[in-house]
Amino acid sequence: MITSTLKILSEADKEACELVKVSEEELTVDKKRLFIESYGCQMNFSDSEIVAAVMRNADFATTSSEDNADVIFLNTCAIRDNAEQKVRNRLQYLNNLKKKRPGLIIGVLGCMAERLKTKLLDEEKMVDIVAGPDSYRDLPRLVEEAETGQKAVNVFLSREETYADISPIRLNSNGITAYISIMRGCDNMCSFCVVPYTRGRERSRDPFSIVEEARLLFADGYKEVTLLGQNVDSYKWKKEAEKGAEPSQMVNFAQLLEMVALIHPDLRVRFSTSHPKDITDDVLWTMKKYENICNYIHFPAQSGNSRVLKVMNRTYDREWYIQKIDRIREILGEDCGISTDMITGFCTETEEEHQDTLSLMEYVKYDYAYMFAYSERPGTPAAKKLKDDVPEEVKKRRLQEVIAVQRQHSSERNEMALGKIQKVLVEGPSKRSDADLCGRNDQNKVVIFPREHYKKGDYVYVLVTECSSATLIGKAVEAVLA
Ligand code: SAH
Ligand code: SF4
Ligand code: F3S
Repeated sequence: MITSTLKILSEADKEACELVKVSEEELTVDKKRLFIESYGCQMNFSDSEIVAAVMRNADFATTSSEDNADVIFLNTCAIRDNAEQKVRNRLQYLNNLKKKRPGLIIGVLGCMAERLKTKLLDEEKMVDIVAGPDSYRDLPRLVEEAETGQKAVNVFLSREETYADISPIRLNSNGITAYISIMRGCDNMCSFCVVPYTRGRERSRDPFSIVEEARLLFADGYKEVTLLGQNVDSYKWKKEAEKGAEPSQMVNFAQLLEMVALIHPDLRVRFSTSHPKDITDDVLWTMKKYENICNYIHFPAQSGNSRVLKVMNRTYDREWYIQKIDRIREILGEDCGISTDMITGFCTETEEEHQDTLSLMEYVKYDYAYMFAYSERPGTPAAKKLKDDVPEEVKKRRLQEVIAVQRQHSSERNEMALGKIQKVLVEGPSKRSDADLCGRNDQNKVVIFPREHYKKGDYVYVLVTECSSATLIGKAVEAVLA
């Protein structure tokens, strides 16, 4: 028996919970072994699970160790230069490994593969396969081609591919929470962003396949699903009327959320990412209507200044964004968790405009933020038309200011939970101690408490007694007073 796993190298979600590996599979001698390593956003991690399923159908078993792998895939990210740098460093290491094991096949998948295409083969000589995000069904053929000693490339971007019929193999899973991709690509042209070029046009997945996937997860003991898309609010699925068959059907994101929430009250539903220009009251009311839709919205602002937002082509301004925040709080209450992404030092950003980002943060008081210094990406509208004119050290200093403000706000928002009872879904043992359990509350905050008789997958009411900017600490209580 071997534990199949996926090494997490994401910058994003730094969890306090220990990951418990549950997916196991029999390794038979005649099966070839695949090792997948994922970088970047949740969509990429979710894609690796699709890749594992495609490869299993081609008789590959996944392995947790590169040492016994016949094939190594790096599922890569291109969002910032340092994301690509990480992959290049890793490829250098694999280059040495390949010298010792000449039969080893190395594939670069995902956004960096799509961005660089065959250039990657020129730059990184030992790479055998380059496969973009829409070509994963073709991977078994690409591997076969590579086995004959040829280089194999598929970077075709599709307008239809959603992998709707593929049942992902859950990798590195805690057995409780899972991602479900509901759409692919992005049609927004934020001027700084490479995603529309690496993941192609936006397309929505059949809602019935999404509900079925969530239902099967729940039947398997999972208690939380996160619906993923670059811009979930523009989810739109349409089935044209067929002659003599049912009338045409339309499903928008609010309706999809409801369909998933109705599967079972004990199945928590989260989603990411919401775009400020597209979020609707319908979505907010649906969140309010269902207790199992978590009271948390990832709502990236990118900047607090209207001129910068215009240059970024975000298509909303500061006032619009603030109105949306007010609406979220009006409908879902002050304690609705809100997080953001912020970019510092975008082209032409002045010191005053940077101050507007800080003041927006003061206004909102985000629970959490992902913060980045602007990194120019070749081929994007910003790279083509704007000058990357904010010096590196200024970008970094502004970033530090944004981080310091956020740390303060994370603490303040966490302190709001002190003395309150939180409903926590237990994801596993805490990283620091086996005597403690770790889970998340509705607002996506990590909560740690003594294990007692509770176990993974339980919903536990926890009275919060202490907190840091990152974590809530408390003790389980038996009942909740209404
Ligand atoms: N679809 C999501 C974002 C996906 S990319 C949205 O619209 O919000 C994740 C985050 O990376 C972005 O929100 C942005 O903050 C950051 N990012 C994207 N391109 C970047 C760049 N060129 N430099 C620095 N940060 C960038
Ligand atoms: Fe990139 Fe903008 Fe699309 Fe998000 S919405 S993926 S930032 S282009
Ligand atoms: Fe990176 Fe591609 Fe996601 S560029 S952030 S892995 S969509």
